[in-house]
Amino acid sequence: MKLLVFAGSTRQQSFNRSLARIAADLGRGAGAEVTLLELSELDIPMYNADLEARGTPPDVIRLKEILDAHPAWIICSPEYNGSYTGLLKNTIDWASSPVAGHPVWADVTRPFADKVVGMLSASNGALGGLRSQSHLAPLLVLLGCWLAPRNYALARAASAFDADGNLADAAQREQVRGVVDQVLWAARRLAA
Ligand code: FNR
Repeated sequence: MKLLVFAGSTRQQSFNRSLARIAADLGRGAGAEVTLLELSELDIPMYNADLEARGTPPDVIRLKEILDAHPAWIICSPEYNGSYTGLLKNTIDWASSPVAGHPVWADVTRPFADKVVGMLSASNGALGGLRSQSHLAPLLVLLGCWLAPRNYALARAASAFDADGNLADAAQREQVRGVVDQVLWAARRLAA
């Protein structure tokens, strides 16, 4: 099973990028073929339909290809003002916008339909960014994703990671594992 993991932050010391690395490790441990995508590696501007009309940026096509190639995703979503980040919204908006006349990407259902998605979040706040997930969930469902019922929000993230970027508390790591395992289980069932 091919598992894609990415975070809605490009911050150097991002808690959500740390969580994404842990989820990726757990995915590998569970036998998945894992891609850890750094959104900073994609050259994607703010969405603008005029810009799109002049030609979809090459990295948007690359993003669509990466998303499409993975039946299972884990999204690590930071919380800004009670919601998910502009980066995540912009990434999803571009990825969901069909490319007129394109043999593959004119299909409005791709690359979101039938992906199995698990949500994680991390914040130094007491809710661990959970409210970002409550906004992200309906967006993903709208686009045709199957959302894993299990999720996890890591609270007090500033003190949760050790010097190597691992979760110091084994119980928290097990929560992340629970989400990763459920996503892989569901994606395998859907593919069967
Ligand atoms: C935040 N932050 C934040 N945290 C939170 O728990 N609830 C919130 O509503 C907000 N709102 C918010 C708005 C804006 C504009 C910023 C810049 C930040 C804090 C934020 O979650 C924190 O910086 C995280 O560390 C961001 O995630 P990464 O970059 O560590 O993955």
